[in-house]
Amino acid sequence: MKPVTASVRKKSAVREAILSAAAYPFTPIDAPVKLDQNESGYDFPPSLKALALERLGETAWNRYPEMNADSLRVALSRYLHWDARGLVVTTGSNVLIHALAQIAGLGARVLTVAPAFSLYTLSAKLLETELTQIPLEPDFALPIPALLSELGRGSGVLYLAEPHAPTGALHDPAKLEELIRAAQNWIVVIDEAYVEYAQIDHTAFLEHENVCILRTFSKAWGLGGLRLGYLMAQPALASQVQKILAPFNVSLLHTVIASAALENPAYVTERVNEAILERDRVYTALREHPTWHIYPSHANYHLIRTSDAALAHRQLLECGVLVRRQDSLLGLEGCIRVSIGTPAENTAFISAAKELV
Ligand SMILES: Cc1ncc(COP(=O)(O)O)c(C=O)c1O
Repeated sequence: MKPVTASVRKKSAVREAILSAAAYPFTPIDAPVKLDQNESGYDFPPSLKALALERLGETAWNRYPEMNADSLRVALSRYLHWDARGLVVTTGSNVLIHALAQIAGLGARVLTVAPAFSLYTLSAKLLETELTQIPLEPDFALPIPALLSELGRGSGVLYLAEPHAPTGALHDPAKLEELIRAAQNWIVVIDEAYVEYAQIDHTAFLEHENVCILRTFSKAWGLGGLRLGYLMAQPALASQVQKILAPFNVSLLHTVIASAALENPAYVTERVNEAILERDRVYTALREHPTWHIYPSHANYHLIRTSDAALAHRQLLECGVLVRRQDSLLGLEGCIRVSIGTPAENTAFISAAKELV
């Protein structure tokens, strides 16, 4: 067989934007203390697992599930006190981040800050939308004048995480309101993946027809393995987002497990209360660190600036503690991010960290 030479190589049917995009940056590493993905340190409660498994055993698996997770949306609606027609449920809020970029379309813009959760920028690059990332202020405040000026040009999607990922900061709601008012031609996405740990939410902004809020079962609900997230918006916007998603994409498994959680949500409150106390304990313990700077956080993680993120990551791993490097993000030179785990996991992290300079 003749070798294929450059001159006869076929043009790829895959768009150049896809070929040149980097895949989502994640390398799985095994470690006894896993604090790298902002998961809950606790598994889904065994009694609720048993309840869900029993219900799954009683349900027919040969039939398709409801087309748009209708009964799960009704259960969520009761829990959230939000119209079920204004809810979209899917397999992780990641999927909604991509869907919202698609809603705005190929000719639209994606606007966010830097650093930001990497999927916002990845979605923009894959869709070949015009991407604008405005650096946060040095104290991680939102760059309001620059964002306002960008919102004055064109239309598209503005992504903001509250609490911010990965800084853990919460921004002034009055400033957010100012942005929303200037974003008449934009969809404003407020990503509340960590809302339970912040204990304030942004549902008041949902009165604006162009605002949507994203939430997930992956963090406080202890269901990272399930892959389930949802969007809250006015019904008119939610129905457009629903169209972008594949029909029947929320499985029987998702519906049964999440319904068991929503019927018994007390465990979430208990665990969040503990995580908030633990977050303060980690912060207090590391505030006195000789060379590291720990940032205050409203989420279930802390951002920490070290002199060398690669070294800190490696040395912590040698002590059995896995954290996430953040030093490739703009303005986060030397930074690592550590999740709040169980008290024993946090103690292991604090002990290891205190040994390092
Ligand atoms: C800010 C932010 N948004 C969204 C997600 C994704 O959530 P999900 O697991 O629902 O896809 C994450 C996950 O780490 C996140 O940090």
